[in-house]
Amino acid sequence: MKTTIVILAAGEGTRMKSSIPKSLHRVAGKSMLRHIVDSSSNIEPEQLMVVHSPNAESTIKEELLESKAIFIEQDKPLGTGHALKTTHHLIDRDSAVIVLLGDVPLVKAETIEELKLNITKNDLTILTIEVKKPEGYGRIVRDERGSIKAIIEESECTDAEKEIKEINTGIMAFAPDKLQNWLNQLDANNQKGEYYLTDVIKIAYDEGCSVASIKATSEMEVFGVNDKKGLAKVEKTIRREKSNELLQLGVTLADPERVDIRGSVKCGKDVFIDIDVIFMGNVVIGDNVKIGPYSLITETSIGDNTEVLSHCNIDHSIIGNNCSIGPFARVRPGTELMSEVKIGNFVETKQSRIKEGSKVNHLSYIGDAEIGTNTNIGAGTITCNYDGANKHKTIIGDDVFIGSGVELIAPIEVEKGATVGAGSTISRSAEAGKLTVERGSRKTLDGWKRPTKKST
Ligand code: UD1
Ligand code: CA
Repeated sequence: MKTTIVILAAGEGTRMKSSIPKSLHRVAGKSMLRHIVDSSSNIEPEQLMVVHSPNAESTIKEELLESKAIFIEQDKPLGTGHALKTTHHLIDRDSAVIVLLGDVPLVKAETIEELKLNITKNDLTILTIEVKKPEGYGRIVRDERGSIKAIIEESECTDAEKEIKEINTGIMAFAPDKLQNWLNQLDANNQKGEYYLTDVIKIAYDEGCSVASIKATSEMEVFGVNDKKGLAKVEKTIRREKSNELLQLGVTLADPERVDIRGSVKCGKDVFIDIDVIFMGNVVIGDNVKIGPYSLITETSIGDNTEVLSHCNIDHSIIGNNCSIGPFARVRPGTELMSEVKIGNFVETKQSRIKEGSKVNHLSYIGDAEIGTNTNIGAGTITCNYDGANKHKTIIGDDVFIGSGVELIAPIEVEKGATVGAGSTISRSAEAGKLTVERGSRKTLDGWKRPTKKST
């Protein structure tokens, strides 16, 4: 059956105390909206719609730039029923509709799948859950046979209804055909003066339609974020889930509460991750890798037996086997380290390839460079890759020895086996197998005196 997913995200979200639309607040490295869109993609809906407020149009569109989403503006936040109604003229007539909420980010792909399966059996399916503290949620009211006959919003509940522990998660699925007619019957005669989507349930029940429910997998799956405290709770939930996955795969975590996976991490065998390490995007880690404390690793692969010492920032890079990085190294995008490479403290690399066995141990900048095998780059060496307008390449061959404090003015080549004297500012290529020294000749001035302070 054709399916349309509608994500309602046009509410005001005032309790977030932010100018960013609520669904664009980020948890675990991506916006709530993106989490929901990603979970939705599993069922491959024919249509994906996002209802947004007028002032959120550009930011929401930008967030889902590459998606096929249809964006619909709800000019005023007149309630969830009104929000869904604004989409109705765009929904394919023979399509079922699954409604998701822009502030419920942890809904699972499998749950959406189950809702879709239910569409063929029932006119309406509601995702519900029983909770200890139902405050703030709509309550599920069942008839004597146990069928759902209404959802009552908390503001409309009698004291007896307030005691009901089964709540509306806000997520529901509608079979094709009837929804439009039900939405047309909604009114705003209630405490909030809003068109509640939840009032559709009583209408459907009274018409004798089949109203079913399925259970959410956990309370957090359907947790609605209303403020920053809620956002932090979701972040913590994802952190726990992801670090548990790693533990199950046999990774050793110094403290499962102190590793943040804001994306996905694949690990080999006998990996150790120390405290306060953050992973972003897709990270792939080989066997026997050790990651020291306080590092940020983004979109990177790390080979077997490599050690990342503390305080490193590694971004969009490929790290080979048996490497050692840090402490305090900044490995920027486009860095490729082959095996047995050593990058030491306060070294920055960018868009550079360093081959087997080479070392950049201390205080260097290596940008737009190619470094051969078994080469040693001395402390404080810098590739001067930028002339103020363009970037240029530095090519360094195999078995090169570069002394400390060398500036390599690109474009430049240091040929195989060359040695460059400490403190040189190399402006022309250094020849293979020879020593090149390029620095001002020494001057010692006799009779020179340090200036003294003038007395006033
Ligand atoms: C809603 C449900 C409630 C349920 C709860 C679950 C209704 C009337 N109530 O309440 O039964 O227990 O979710 O979290 O449906 N939105 C719009 N346009 C609007 C109003 C809201 O797009 O005019 C969007 C919001 O951006 C939000 C979602 O709909 O993403 C839910 O709205 P919200 O105001 O948070 O509803 P709740 O009071 O939480
Ligand atoms: Ca809410």
